[in-house]
Amino acid sequence: MMPSAANFDVGPIMSAESYLEDAEYADADLERGELLSLACIACHTLEAGRDHVLGPNLSGVFGAAAAQKPGFEYSPALVNAGLVWTPRALDAWLAAPARFVPGTSMVFAGYADSEDRRNLIAYLLGATQVPPQ
Ligand code: HEC
Repeated sequence: MMPSAANFDVGPIMSAESYLEDAEYADADLERGELLSLACIACHTLEAGRDHVLGPNLSGVFGAAAAQKPGFEYSPALVNAGLVWTPRALDAWLAAPARFVPGTSMVFAGYADSEDRRNLIAYLLGATQVPPQ
């Protein structure tokens, strides 16, 4: 069963540092995660202070409510999804964005492999916390 964002339980809301201490992410393959993130950085910047591109800048996204970055025009679907970006929510989103949030403007088919998503999310937990250079 593919979950949709409506009535989705995002799980505990914590800091990225705390999620990284979780056994689920502590032993992830960060190199594999970085490789998988190349698809994301075609449309997103990850570090603080960088511009939006086709998609919004993703710095500080973990633990934050969805669709809140100033200066980016989100789809009504994501604005109204009522999501907080926990690793659990990211996992469901990255498996199949258009199924999780029908009507989203993020054109990405998804990563079907849950191990890939775990590695990618572990990488993003670090890469979206990099302070401005
Ligand atoms: C083709 C461009 C494109 C690609 C590739 C893409 N995204 Fe996106 N992303 C977007 C757009 C556009 C939005 C805004 C979606 C909306 O408003 O419905 C978005 C939104 C998001 C959001 C929500 C941000 C917020 O502020 O709420 C996250 C998280 C995200 N993308 C992560 C990723 C990750 C991780 C990848 C790589 C696996 C990825 N995206 C790949 C274009 C893209």
